[in-house]
Amino acid sequence: MTALRDRVTDLGLIGRDFLTIHDYAPAEIGALLDLAVELKAAQKRGEAHALLAGRSVGMIFTKTSTRTRISFEVGIAQLGAQPLFLNANDIQLRVGETLKDTGHVLSRYLDAIMIRTFAHADVVDLAASATIPIINGLTDDHHPCQAMADALTVREHCGGLEGRKLVYSGDGNNVANSLAEVGAKTGMHVVICTPDDYRPDEAIVARARADAAQTGATIELTRDLRAAVRGADVIYTDTFTSMGQEAEHDVRLAALRAYQVNDELLALAGPQARLMHCLPAHWGEEITEAALYSPQSVIFDQAENRLHAQKAVMAALIG
Ligand code: CP
Ligand code: NVA
Repeated sequence: MTALRDRVTDLGLIGRDFLTIHDYAPAEIGALLDLAVELKAAQKRGEAHALLAGRSVGMIFTKTSTRTRISFEVGIAQLGAQPLFLNANDIQLRVGETLKDTGHVLSRYLDAIMIRTFAHADVVDLAASATIPIINGLTDDHHPCQAMADALTVREHCGGLEGRKLVYSGDGNNVANSLAEVGAKTGMHVVICTPDDYRPDEAIVARARADAAQTGATIELTRDLRAAVRGADVIYTDTFTSMGQEAEHDVRLAALRAYQVNDELLALAGPQARLMHCLPAHWGEEITEAALYSPQSVIFDQAENRLHAQKAVMAALIG
């Protein structure tokens, strides 16, 4: 335990925020993934690793969640800290208290805050006012904790990250943005397949491509899903309609239907391809039930890895 604590301190990440993957150097992402592997192994062996004993971590949600809420809450408890679930509807944020004031106040009680909300700028603002680490639990533009769990899952199922080909199919959303960023930091070949109108954010892709130059990664955008999936190590999809876009559901479904991941696409990719999805899934839209439960799917391992990856992030940032 002392050795583990010393290694966590040596990472030099105490006090940092975790807003996007881009903010972290390739070596830092690698070290966080190594720590996640170590914490996962310790948990499987039943060893205590209460690195955050006596601490408190708040979790603010203005959007719904199953995995993020529960994996954070359980992860905080496994690290020996106290989790506080703060539904934005139940705190003064709902009636207009600003994020700035909230950040100042919560910094006097808590050791870190995880926040899930709409505008990425709100999370940046909270981080500016808070004096404790802020962890992004999903915004309209980024889902970095998901990307860490995804990288851990690829590492486990594909024997590493460098040189692996990950093909994302569907909407160029927050999950796609963070996958491009984590691919860039870890030397993966990320191919994002979308119709032209659903491409990921141009500035985020440009930034990821600049990062990719340091690691040998590539970030490619294409319409041609069928050509892209051949020989892929990973096929990845996410909902066509993200939280906040519900009114566009029918238009999006029509525009993105051809990007569904199903048995036919998996066959085209080949038996080596692993299937990933951040969940929640919408059977019959971006993925079929058969594909989700196929032998190629590692989706539930991926969901589990949220727990381990986020524990590493919290342990390293809170220290
Ligand atoms: N993947 C993910 O973030 O799931 P939740 O929306 O259930 O938290
Ligand atoms: N893109 C999805 C991810 C959910 C975890 C959304 O933002 O709703």
